[in-house]
Amino acid sequence: MKKIEGFPEGFLWGGATAANQFEGAYNLGGKGLSTADMVKFVPKKERGEGFSLDVSRTEIEVILNGKVEAVFPKRFGVDFYHHYKEDIALLAEMGFKIFRLSINWARIFPNGDDAKPNEEGLVFYDKVFDECLKYDMEPLVTLSHYETPLNLTMKYNGWADRRVIDFFINYADTVFRRYKNKVKYWLTFNEINIITLSPYTGGGVLVEDAENPLELSYQAGHHQFVASSLVTKLGHEINPEFKIGCMLARMTTYPETNNPEDVLKAQKENQINLFFTDVQARGEYPSYMNRYFYENNITIQKERGDEEILKTYPVDFISFSYYMTATASSKSSDNQVNGNFISGMKNTYLETSDWGWQIDPIGLRWTLKDFYDRYQLPLFIVENGLGAYDKVEEDGSIHDAYRIDYLQKHIEQMKEAVIDGVDLMGYTSWGCIDLVSASTSEMSKRYGYIYVDQDDEGNGTLKRLKKDSFYWYKKVISTNGNEL
Ligand code: BG6
Repeated sequence: MKKIEGFPEGFLWGGATAANQFEGAYNLGGKGLSTADMVKFVPKKERGEGFSLDVSRTEIEVILNGKVEAVFPKRFGVDFYHHYKEDIALLAEMGFKIFRLSINWARIFPNGDDAKPNEEGLVFYDKVFDECLKYDMEPLVTLSHYETPLNLTMKYNGWADRRVIDFFINYADTVFRRYKNKVKYWLTFNEINIITLSPYTGGGVLVEDAENPLELSYQAGHHQFVASSLVTKLGHEINPEFKIGCMLARMTTYPETNNPEDVLKAQKENQINLFFTDVQARGEYPSYMNRYFYENNITIQKERGDEEILKTYPVDFISFSYYMTATASSKSSDNQVNGNFISGMKNTYLETSDWGWQIDPIGLRWTLKDFYDRYQLPLFIVENGLGAYDKVEEDGSIHDAYRIDYLQKHIEQMKEAVIDGVDLMGYTSWGCIDLVSASTSEMSKRYGYIYVDQDDEGNGTLKRLKKDSFYWYKKVISTNGNEL
């Protein structure tokens, strides 16, 4: 028997971004407003440790009337819109095989429910994908990454309304046909589980008037499940070569102790998290959710045919983000640890990032193996990385040894998981070029190999600088992960 030595040939090394945090040009080229354009930056001294991404209908109306004096960083991102050639050339210099980005839905359908797409928006992504292909870099495209057209929120309450399924299918149909010879890898919804944790972010849903907000957000999630399956079906009809995946914000939860009560609690937390991939990969609602739904007064309205759709059109692969793990205890405690949308309890064995996220490379190996045991489907890590403060030296260099250390340890564990037998397609670390933070809208929370000169208020030259990690990752890619 031959030992697997490491990453397979053709492993897809790259990095990830999302339009609303990266692209900017929020009101150019015929783009409509999206939910992300309504999120303002609140400095840390005002917001404390937490953050809020929820925007109410009243707040949106006030913003639309131009009565708010604030910075809205997701409107300008880091201006990839005007820098895409330079940015893609830098990624190519690192040897990227794949580049994850999202199409901003509101750039293609400014109101979400328009009869015709915006040609100028389509042309922009044509140019971006052509630029990638020039360097033999595959685009990996997310159809929906926290950028629901704002009109869908105001008119339909976003994904809470079943009619949004058809608007999404129309959008997917448009971009699938347009880019069918340019893009092979697709993700339907970024971190689909966020719909229940931050419904506005995940699906443009306002829950402020809902009798049972949790029920409404699971209902919106059901609409996204159906939409995702129908779009998977459609994509395969348009181009049978398409690989279409789901995407989960995975947070593995360990029991705090070996007390069986804690073990049971951790299992429950993991089920609530894995529910989404269970539906999208196995094609049905798992029975463990019945009790959860009953206890939370949740009844999902399903239409005839929905179950068959979910069963008939599951995803081709499973992708996920992995930043941290947490623990669970049967006892209540204030020993809380918070990620951006997901929280749990502290683990005394783990160190934390500047933002308090627990760093757990071995947890990644465990997570990969657990996923593969559960589904036997190819896996793709489409987000992972360290948000940190960077310092630019006088000569323009950036010594981000902490980031290299984080990534190196995670990639090492990925490799172990591959040797353990996991079918892993690729790795796109988050924010390969610095971009605006999803949770706090800060620019100072940086993930990239490439620094962008811009501060939290949006001041700066937007100049791109290579960090030490740029050269390190280039070597990782050129040796297919053998030199870390
Ligand atoms: C994921 C999101 O939750 O985490 C990204 O898909 C996000 O959009 C990333 O940027 C990192 O989180 P944050 O809040 O540090 O930007």
